Amino acid sequence: MPALYALMVRRLLPPRFAIIGVARTEGNDDTWRAEMEQAVKDHARDEFRQDVWDELASLMRYVSTDFADEGGEDKLEQMIEACEQQKDLGGNRVYYLAVPPAAFPTIVEALGKRKDDRGWTRLIVEKPFGHDLASARELNKLLWAHFEEREIFRIDHYLGKETVQNMLALRFANGIFEPIWNRQFVDHIQITVAESIGIEARAGYYESAGAIRDIFQNHLLQLLALTAMEPPIDFTAESVRNEKVKVLKSLHTPGPKSVVRGQYGRGYVEGEDVSAYREEKGVKPDSVTETYVAAKLYVDNWRWADTPFYVRMGKRLARRETTIALQFKRAPHPPFEESATEGLRPNVLLIHVQPDEGVSLAIGAKVPGQGMQIRTVHMDFLYGGAFRTGIPEAYERLILDVMLGEATLFTRADETEEQWLLVDAIVAQWQRDKPGFPNYAAGTWGPPSADELLHRDGRSWRRH
Ligand code: BG6
Repeated sequence: MPALYALMVRRLLPPRFAIIGVARTEGNDDTWRAEMEQAVKDHARDEFRQDVWDELASLMRYVSTDFADEGGEDKLEQMIEACEQQKDLGGNRVYYLAVPPAAFPTIVEALGKRKDDRGWTRLIVEKPFGHDLASARELNKLLWAHFEEREIFRIDHYLGKETVQNMLALRFANGIFEPIWNRQFVDHIQITVAESIGIEARAGYYESAGAIRDIFQNHLLQLLALTAMEPPIDFTAESVRNEKVKVLKSLHTPGPKSVVRGQYGRGYVEGEDVSAYREEKGVKPDSVTETYVAAKLYVDNWRWADTPFYVRMGKRLARRETTIALQFKRAPHPPFEESATEGLRPNVLLIHVQPDEGVSLAIGAKVPGQGMQIRTVHMDFLYGGAFRTGIPEAYERLILDVMLGEATLFTRADETEEQWLLVDAIVAQWQRDKPGFPNYAAGTWGPPSADELLHRDGRSWRRH
């Protein structure tokens, strides 16, 4: 709703439009509008404007129904038809499914049966998209029984983030990066998705998902795919996704020792005392669900052979930070004395996905004064400084794309399946032993074993 509100502020919604909220929860148009008004006030990026809200609220209706009941979907259908008639909508429909996995078959079947030729029907499917490869395949089969792939929009909101799309601009709109974007020049790559928040009130979901299904399977692997992919021939959905899926197909971890999992214990985050994961409401006191994963991955292709991709993600870490760092090899023969370059670190191209959105290049520069001392300095591009407009929320872009039928920033079935293949292999290893959790304190950068993972290779995580 905050995204729709932002689109309304910018007059980007179609002139003939209606939004119908559907849930099992009892309620009516007014209770739903009131609840959403609060959500918009709390989360929208724009200042709240009563006139804009009133206009949006006038387009909103609510239906309380359970698709599992006999004729449950009829209530929704009647409401849709009423709105279509009243506003002369012409029959184009976007169904946004943010529902528990168990509800999928009933809903998809009910909606599929009601497709007609008056307009287009598109389906947005929120995660989790299955629980493993087998269930994701089942889900795809179920969807394809009623919808065509071009009608299905599997959402991964990281792809809607401006800075993630900027990765494509950075790589493919500039001539200077691509020639060095490979194993000859890059020593290794680090991708970090760190969060300071815990699991909020989502124990029911998180207990069975863990960090590997919540972030690694989708957001993190998508970031990696965009970083590693070959230049697509054009920017169409098929071309971009063809290249991404090739990366996902060529991914592997060298072995069980290359994956580290963690779970947070008590600690301090941003000055506040926080409880351990096992003490969160709804979490089993002996839960072995991981809230942190670090891994070494390889992309087995010509461009990246033997170049490690170190990735890490976790809850209750010291800070919220999503970054992609390309660390380049050192200069082959610096003609300076060793003491001159003590303060010099290797070149790093750092993409700040969030917060402090931007790109930064670490280079060596001479410290002013007598003699030759070289130190690392940064060339920075900051979104805030370069562009005046604020950065849109990912969902604004993605919801609009669905209405336009533009699927480039959505995950195709084969990508999802490749992502699960890797996750299944990792999770299978985990079944063999019981982890000693908790193994990192909230507010730190994860378990010591994650540091060892890099130290073994003579490297270390980027300093913060
Ligand atoms: C969601 C995960 O997909 O992404 C959450 O389910 C996580 O656990 C969130 O907090 C992070 O998104 P963002 O946009 O805040 O980085």
